[in-house]
Amino acid sequence: MHFSNFGQKFCTKSGIGELMNDLASLPAGNAPIYALGGGNPAPLPALQAAFLEMLQFYAENQKDLQQNTFNYPSPQGHTGFIAVLVERLNEQYGWSLSEKNIALTNGSQNAFFMLFNLLAGKTHLGFKRIQLPMAPEYIGYEDTGLSENMFISQKPLIEKLDNRQFKYRIDSEALQIQNDAAALCVSRPTNPTGNVITDSELALLDKLSTQHGIPLIIDNAYGAPFPNIIHVPNKLLWHDNIILSMSLSKLGFPGVRTGIIVANQEIVEALTQMNAVMNLSPCALGPSIMQPLFKNDKILQLCSDHITPFYRQRANDALTWFNDAFSDVNAFVHKPEGSIFLWLWFPSLNIDTAELYQRLKKIGVLVVPGHYFFPGVDKSWPHTRQCVRVNISGDAATIQTGLRLIADAVRQAS
Ligand SMILES: Cc1ncc(COP(=O)(O)O)c(C=O)c1O
Repeated sequence: MHFSNFGQKFCTKSGIGELMNDLASLPAGNAPIYALGGGNPAPLPALQAAFLEMLQFYAENQKDLQQNTFNYPSPQGHTGFIAVLVERLNEQYGWSLSEKNIALTNGSQNAFFMLFNLLAGKTHLGFKRIQLPMAPEYIGYEDTGLSENMFISQKPLIEKLDNRQFKYRIDSEALQIQNDAAALCVSRPTNPTGNVITDSELALLDKLSTQHGIPLIIDNAYGAPFPNIIHVPNKLLWHDNIILSMSLSKLGFPGVRTGIIVANQEIVEALTQMNAVMNLSPCALGPSIMQPLFKNDKILQLCSDHITPFYRQRANDALTWFNDAFSDVNAFVHKPEGSIFLWLWFPSLNIDTAELYQRLKKIGVLVVPGHYFFPGVDKSWPHTRQCVRVNISGDAATIQTGLRLIADAVRQAS
């Protein structure tokens, strides 16, 4: 079979493909599996109960579900859910959004595919790229480009903190908006590192993008107001030049595949057209179920009562387990300021983390090797081969033992 260039690009090995396949097909046999890869959120009972209650309600009140589930919804997305989001976000942040400022997508990953290819690639002004102000950055971006080399990025500054922690900072002196940049994009909190770029770093990106007439894309998959897995003070920004991406996934509902894009009308209209071509319309089941929970702010309550405290506690516990397991190993951990991951750095490793990943996989420990998270950065920088991402949202004992096994493997290879 001969695949097109498009086919070949999307069917060859990709970081995100490997990650999702590992998540779906764990090694066979009876040996225990320490699944610390992937991006699954924690299965929090209170969130699941709220979801199931709404499902039960709809089972008994079919009329409420009819309009959007027994018919195709608008290509912009479930109109009732969009109206509720507009109302709640305006009230909470004092914005002046209208229904023309929000489009829904089949997950925010799908939104990034559309947004990046909408803005970058071949244009009548020449080839344009998406500029990431620093890497490591989310693994899911790099492979979305219909053209090669659609991302540019730069090394971060590494600030060493106490207790073997560190924090990446944007190298603002080196940061130049490139002539071919079509947009800036940053995840905040950042997957994979748990970094939250500071309000002043965000303000700088906002200023630079406005000055250069390019949008600033803020990927808020883990941020406020939902799921609110963010442990440091932070200000949420939006205005006409910002494209804000949110998702229902990290509330605990990745299977409903709902992404939310808050943007100016031109972007929302473009996404609506693309939705129509690619999907007819985005899935409305999740938005139907969520609409009442957003309308009465129950979802915010669930975030502050369950999601935020769970992940804050988990980040603290994971740091303790890290310190115990790696006490005699040259290892550092990024300060976990948000998201659902620990990002570990092994400066004395004498193999690549790609090899470490294979060794760990053989003993049932699944992590994500760090080299995938440096799109557009010169891979000769050793740091790109010295880090791994560990998901800390699962079973506590699994994470604790998994960290110990990672420490053993690193010790053997240092
Ligand atoms: C930073 C970030 N952005 C976007 C996504 C995509 O999420 P979804 O497509 O489930 O909304 C993820 C998923 O892990 C993520 O971590």
